[in-house]
Amino acid sequence: MEVKLQVLVMLAMILSLFSAASATSGLAVYYRPQYYPAACPGFNLRNSGVMVAGVSDALWNGGKACGRMLRVRCTSAANDFPKPCKAGIITVKVVDYCQQPCHGVINLSQDAFARIANLDAGKVWVDYS
Ligand SMILES: *[C@@H]1O[C@H](CO)[C@@H](O)[C@H](O)[C@H]1NC(C)=O
Repeated sequence: MEVKLQVLVMLAMILSLFSAASATSGLAVYYRPQYYPAACPGFNLRNSGVMVAGVSDALWNGGKACGRMLRVRCTSAANDFPKPCKAGIITVKVVDYCQQPCHGVINLSQDAFARIANLDAGKVWVDYS
């Protein structure tokens, strides 16, 4: 019994390490309301809210990214703006495509960006998974 528990604890630790390591970093920008209509059909303010994002080709996957939940954390400044990051992780739903030239990997809604960073920074480095 005790051994089984230890194995479970070890597994949980390995899994959490793996999920931390699987976060990818990229640039996040933001756009102002209104957020809809968005490129993902059927997604609107009522069923998806304001914690949403558009993603560039790196994540879009021909539209299969629609509805995907992304966990996003601000990691560092991407320009001269000092200390743009706020603590915490947000979860956003992919509802839009960020067309080239998309100036980031993730184009967050203004509401989402404001939770993790100072809007005046305009763009920040994030980790997402
Ligand atoms: C972000 O998405 C909005 C809405 O689709 C778009 O108008 C804007 O150009 C995008 N911003 C950037 C920097 O790519």
